[in-house]
Formats: sequence, structure tokens, C-alpha cells
Amino acid sequence: MRPHALVPFLGAGLVVAALLATPLAQAQSAILEGERFHPEVGTRGMVATSHFLATEVAHEVLAAGGNAVDAAVTAGFALAVTQPRSGNIGGGGFMLISDEDSGEVIAIDYRETAPAAATETMFQDEQGNAVSEWSRFTHRAAGVPGTVAGLALALEEYGTLTLAEALAPAIRLAEEGFEIPPRFAEGVAQAGDRLTRWESTRAMFFKEDGSPYEVGETFRQPDLAATLTRIAEQGAREFYEGETAELIVAEMERHDGLITREDLAGYRPDIREPSHGNYRGHDVYAMSPPSSGGVHIVQMLNILEAYDIAGMGFGAADTMHLMAEAMKRAYADRSEYLGDTDFVEVPLEGLTSEGYADELRAGIALDRATPSAEIAPGNPLPYESSETTHFSIADGDGLAVSNTYTINFSYGSGIAVAGAGFLLNNEMDDFSAKPGVPNAYGLIGGEANKIEPGKRMLSSMTPTIVKRDGRNFLITGSPGGSRIITTTLQVLMNVIDHGMNIQSAVSAPRLHHQWLPDELRIEAGFSPDTLALLEARGHTISQEAAMGAAQSIVIEDGRFHGGADPRRSTSSAMGL
Ligand code: GLY
Repeated sequence: MRPHALVPFLGAGLVVAALLATPLAQAQSAILEGERFHPEVGTRGMVATSHFLATEVAHEVLAAGGNAVDAAVTAGFALAVTQPRSGNIGGGGFMLISDEDSGEVIAIDYRETAPAAATETMFQDEQGNAVSEWSRFTHRAAGVPGTVAGLALALEEYGTLTLAEALAPAIRLAEEGFEIPPRFAEGVAQAGDRLTRWESTRAMFFKEDGSPYEVGETFRQPDLAATLTRIAEQGAREFYEGETAELIVAEMERHDGLITREDLAGYRPDIREPSHGNYRGHDVYAMSPPSSGGVHIVQMLNILEAYDIAGMGFGAADTMHLMAEAMKRAYADRSEYLGDTDFVEVPLEGLTSEGYADELRAGIALDRATPSAEIAPGNPLPYESSETTHFSIADGDGLAVSNTYTINFSYGSGIAVAGAGFLLNNEMDDFSAKPGVPNAYGLIGGEANKIEPGKRMLSSMTPTIVKRDGRNFLITGSPGGSRIITTTLQVLMNVIDHGMNIQSAVSAPRLHHQWLPDELRIEAGFSPDTLALLEARGHTISQEAAMGAAQSIVIEDGRFHGGADPRRSTSSAMGL
């Protein structure tokens, strides 16, 4: 894929003029007769992110003639400032880019890596028990961050802005600050102890007298502004080899962490081929390993395609039962086979083959939930021929970006790099600390996901782009740990099977099953009668808080429809 043919970027000075010519008011809600939910609509592009300030700056880039990748990288850095608990330069992620002109869809893998000194049993005590405190809340919980390198690579290969131009809004937001929204203040209050345990983190999130910021007060991040300014002036390698790298290494050396200068200097993002499948005439592209997301989205869609889901209807017991049964089987396979393909063989072709889906489907009964204890990982080999943030952006020139990135938990490890102003991830918990022992999301991992130096830990992040007749059609993805894959699956099904507009599709209640524990998790909004029917088939229902935040776009008939997920109060979509 080559850098996209574009109107040349107009430069920061002309952004204001461009905005005047393209007033934000042009981004309106679509009035779709008879619908309860209305997406944002645009005719020349769309931005949907989990924070309105990030949406605004990315929209400004598009309005000034930048392409979707320019806007995505700008949003990625802005979210690291406005939502420091999730989108963050101390973590990593994945970006899918689809270029209608060339027909290519590529995946940028900027997942964190295990430091060179990491060992298979580093999170086990002397008795061989996995110690979750070590893999979640210590300096050893951090993988080598990939976000700065990944966003810079995207820009260099597919964007038109300089890194300094893409960083400028983030630097401004960090320096000048922004008004604290309720979600920010509530998050800090909830995370309480974790954010006061380390002085560097306390100094970042609390006032000098130790009191929390109130809603409406201005939140400034001078250390983060200085870090982003160094990257803008010296390039992405500054993070890995300059003063920022020194600050990370000093933080590690003070607290028995593992990340060294060599780990940072050696970090490289990768360009990979996404997982691909076909669902009812749509081409589905989603993130390949080291994420499990794309493989299992395709696997579940293959199982479900044989059923008349549209005829059964959204929220019907039959539909929900079949989805749960497909989910269980996919997550059982995840526990056995998935890992970083640079280190282990993953039977990708088998897992995503229609033949294997036929075999799995044959084990599904329509009137009875298969207990998870009766489901073991299957055998795809014969079919083998030899808290997180998501945003979606599309421009009017056929370029679309789906990006999910994370520091794992909300606030990651809870440890800020002193003097650098960002939190370290605790992504090492996504490895199997011990085969068979669940991680923080209850996900079981196997040998394929054991810790090895330089390896990328298995992810569930599922940035996804669906094409119809060769055109970008649906751009989606979500945060949510283990629930990312099933959230993304449901946005796809809501659009393709149930014909929902994108705002309805992201707003509709969700369900989730991950094989173990054997429970069908349900958001509020499904009928009690339906849940009773599911229980009668043997499902154990558990009522859950909201799952995921799938900022999504549908492009149809020359219109861009944006769906901001109401599960995040700061979500916003803006068209132009
Ligand atoms: N840290 C969550 C994931 O990557 O799946």
C-alpha cells in the first residue's frame, strides 16, 4: 500500500480556515424514519472515538485535508492525554488500515513485547503458584511499550503529516489542560489506592495537597507534554533511545523492573496480514495474532453463517443460544492454540476454515446448552493445509482506520514513569503466568502463550474492517478485555444480520460467553422471558455491567454514519 493520494495537508495555520468552510454543525444526526437511535452522518468522512476532544482534533485534521491515518495518529496521541487511564503511550495495540484504491487491508502490530530477562515462571512463587499481584501491579508487569513506534510507523507509511504535526494537538491538550469530565473524576476515585501507592502516579492524578481534581477543573500534564514535545522534536526513536527511554530505565532500576535500554532500543512494530473471512457476502478483516480477535471472529461467524439469524431475530432465545454456543467453542480453542506466531505455530487456516466450523456446529444442539465441561479445545489441525480504547476513522478518499490500543487494566499497572507523565502497562498479565491458570479476565492460556523473551503476549483486541463489494463498509472494534471479541462480533451481526443502523448496532444490549467460567453474561435490556427460555436450555445467566465501547462507522450510499457507544459518557462521533 502506498501513501494515499490526497489533497495535500493544508498545514496547521489553515486548519481554522478549513473548519470555517466546513462548520462542525455539518455533522448532524441522521434522521432515519422509524428508528430509535440515530447515527451521526457525514458525506466526506467520519471520526468516532471514546473522547470528544480526540474526536474534535481528528476531525480538524480531516477537515484540513489530512487522510484517515493522519487523523487516526492525531487521535491516538490525543487520547493518550485526555484518557490517560487507557489509550496511552506506555502501552501497545493494533491498527487496521484499508485502502479502497489498492484493495489492500494491512495490520500494524504495535503490541508490547516481553523484556529479554523475562522467564516462563517469573510470576510463579516457589511452590509454582501463579501470583497475580506480580503480573498486574509491579514494574515487572510491564511489557516493552509499542504505541509510539506503532503510531509513527502508520504515519510514515500511510499518512501525510509529520509526526510533529500529528503530536501538536496532544501537546497542546497536555500543556494547556482540559476540563475534567465526570467519567475522569469517577475513574480516579474508583482506582483510589492504586493511584496513590506510587508517588509518581499520585503526582500525576492528584493535586499537590493530595486532594483529587473535581469535575470541571482543568487537568494539566506538564511531564507528559515534555515527553510528547521531545518525541515531536527528535522523532519516535526518542522514546526508545533518548531521555524518555532513560526515564523508563531509571524507573525500572529503582523498582526491580526488567525493561532495559536494549529492550527499548530493540522494539519494532510489525506490519502483518489481517485475519480474513467471509460472512454473508461481506469480507471481514480483523486483527491476526498476536491477537486472538480476528481468528475467533472469523471462526464464530463461520459457525453462525449456517443459521437463519435474521429470521430468528435480535434478542431471540434461539439467536442468543447459538451465539453463546459458538462463543464457547471459540474461546476453548483460544485457550489451547493461540499465541504469538513469531514464536509458536498457530493453526490459523484450520481455525478459520469452513470445514472446521461445520464440525463444531455439528456438536451444537438447538435445545440444550452444552456444558463447558463437555467442550474441550477441538482439533483444527486436519483443516490446516500444511480497559483499552478503540476508535474508527474514515476519509472521503477510500481510506479507513480501525485502531484498538491499551495499557491493559484501567490505569494499567498503576505505575507512572517518574518525570515522563505516563502510566506503564501491565500487559505481562496477558501471558499465561502458568498454563491453565486464568488471567485477570478469567481467560485460560496454554503453552502457546507462555512467557518468552521478546514475545508478544496474546491479546483479544479486534480492530475490524468489513468490506462490501470491495468498498469499506463497517469499521469497528472495542475495549473490554475478553469481551472485546464478542462485542465486535455483535456489532457485525447487528448490522449484517439484523439490519440495524450503526448507532442502534452499538447501543443494543450485549451478551458474552467465554467457555470458562460457564456462564452467559448479559447486559441489562434483554427480556426476562427470553432469559428464562435460555435458563431452561441449561445456560447459567449472569447479569453484568456494560460491556465494551465500540466506536464504529458504517459507510453506505456515499454517507458516513458514526455510532458513538453510549456505554462511555465521553464517546463521540463527528462527520464532515
Ligand atoms: N489487554 C487486553 C488484551 O489485549 O486483550
